[in-house]
Amino acid sequence: MVDKLKVLFLASEVGPFAKTGGLADVAGALPGALRQLGADVRLVLPYYRLVREGNFQLRTVLKDLKIPLGSEKLPANVLEAQTEDGVPVYLIERDDLYDRPNLYGSAVGDYYDNLERFSFFAHAALILSDALLFSPDLIHCHDWQTGLVPALIKGPYGDTSTLAGTPTVFTVHNLGYQGLFPAGKLPVTGLLKDEFFHPEGLEFWGKISLLKAGIVYSEAITTVSPTYAREIQTSEYGLGMEGIFKHRRASLHGILNGVDYNLWDPAVDSHVTFNYSPRKMEGKRRCKESLIQEMGLDPSVIKKPLLGMISRLDNQKGFDLLVQMLDEILELDVGLIILGSGDELIQKAIQDAATRHQGRVGFEIGFDEPLAHHIMAGVDIFLIPSRYEPCGLTQMYALKYGAVPVVRATGGLDDTVVQFDPLTKEGNGFKFGPYKPAAFVAAIHQAVNLFQDSRTWKRLMANGMKADFSWDKSARRYLEIYRSVVYGNFQQVAQ
Ligand code: ADP
Ligand code: GLC
Repeated sequence: MVDKLKVLFLASEVGPFAKTGGLADVAGALPGALRQLGADVRLVLPYYRLVREGNFQLRTVLKDLKIPLGSEKLPANVLEAQTEDGVPVYLIERDDLYDRPNLYGSAVGDYYDNLERFSFFAHAALILSDALLFSPDLIHCHDWQTGLVPALIKGPYGDTSTLAGTPTVFTVHNLGYQGLFPAGKLPVTGLLKDEFFHPEGLEFWGKISLLKAGIVYSEAITTVSPTYAREIQTSEYGLGMEGIFKHRRASLHGILNGVDYNLWDPAVDSHVTFNYSPRKMEGKRRCKESLIQEMGLDPSVIKKPLLGMISRLDNQKGFDLLVQMLDEILELDVGLIILGSGDELIQKAIQDAATRHQGRVGFEIGFDEPLAHHIMAGVDIFLIPSRYEPCGLTQMYALKYGAVPVVRATGGLDDTVVQFDPLTKEGNGFKFGPYKPAAFVAAIHQAVNLFQDSRTWKRLMANGMKADFSWDKSARRYLEIYRSVVYGNFQQVAQ
């Protein structure tokens, strides 16, 4: 059946326009997959400096749209671009809010006016769809930056606007970012205190939480893996919101993210020096050689297991385990390459270790898309020791590139990596349970030992490379949820 649902899709990052992490990968690919299934999806994104400098084809579609911000109305222009799959992307241009070096803040902290920036974005998205005469059947919001939208639909846009009654789906990509702001700033949002600032609404321990607004005022909530959907209902992972998720569990769905294999497949990847595939693996060794050279490691590393990481440098990602055990890991006679940007303390700790093990550790600080692809293609083992991981995309990329993942069994990592069994030769990687340094090293040890048995290792790589996480299946699940909210069979939400 062809699905003609009209979907307004709101995210604060969308690949390839603006990216800091996996949200951009998802928002860059899922709309295209939905479009393939017949849905009319339109994206909205702030016109950040990164987009301005990105050399994309743009045209102005609306000028001087008046957007509410607190008690004022400020003008904004709307530009239009398209994703590779032909999905329209509307960019909100307002330079005092979005023409900045980064998307959310600097190394010192978040921008002081993020509430203003993302309130403006939420209002602008709603006003522009009205102005473009695009009446969506539903609005799909992602993470705290868009959490205000479901509340606005129930509040100021609930009476007069053509959007009144439009159902919303809210996807939690990461519960660690709750969009918290002081209660006194509520007037910025345009929401009335009595109506919205209470424990059943967007109040969270005396603060505004835009994430909570998205969760309580949406008709359906999704998160990015089945395991994370269960975990966030527990006190260990719920970060104080477990009660809310338990209460809404009938409308909470865990849908695994997919992979865009046009971008992440060593057979077609335009970033890698040598393409390769399961039946033609020579390129992998050559990619390893050129990566070793690029990162300035000792050429002898070619014979050793080469470990890699590509990550935001954030506590979520398990860097405390890595830093504590770095010396022990390197005693296993391996090479290690890390690409990351973020927390300065983590940077410093890794840098110190890299200095102690020159020639065997390569550490690149920054956000570097081509290097991320070189690392995927060049390493033998890919490490993700996350404290929690809603889905995680890099383990799925690693599998496709024959880089065997060693992961902590949590969230989407647990759903996608299957522990290798040396007897049956089934499985695609190595997992550890307790968030403990020794457990992490033990899992790396298993991988490094198996690496010496090259026949079995080949089998293990092949198991991973044949895994298929393409978007189609997950996009169909989203469509089912879209239909359920549009045609009405969902649980009542907070009013
Ligand atoms: P998260 O969204 O929590 O950061 P994911 O695994 O879902 O984690 O997605 C991370 C995405 O960001 C992947 O596409 C990964 O390759 C990319 N990435 C992370 N750090 C960097 C970096 N320093 N340079 C280039 N790409 C990076
Ligand atoms: C978040 C999560 C990550 C997930 C990504 C995309 O940033 O940390 O696990 O893959 O969003 O959904």
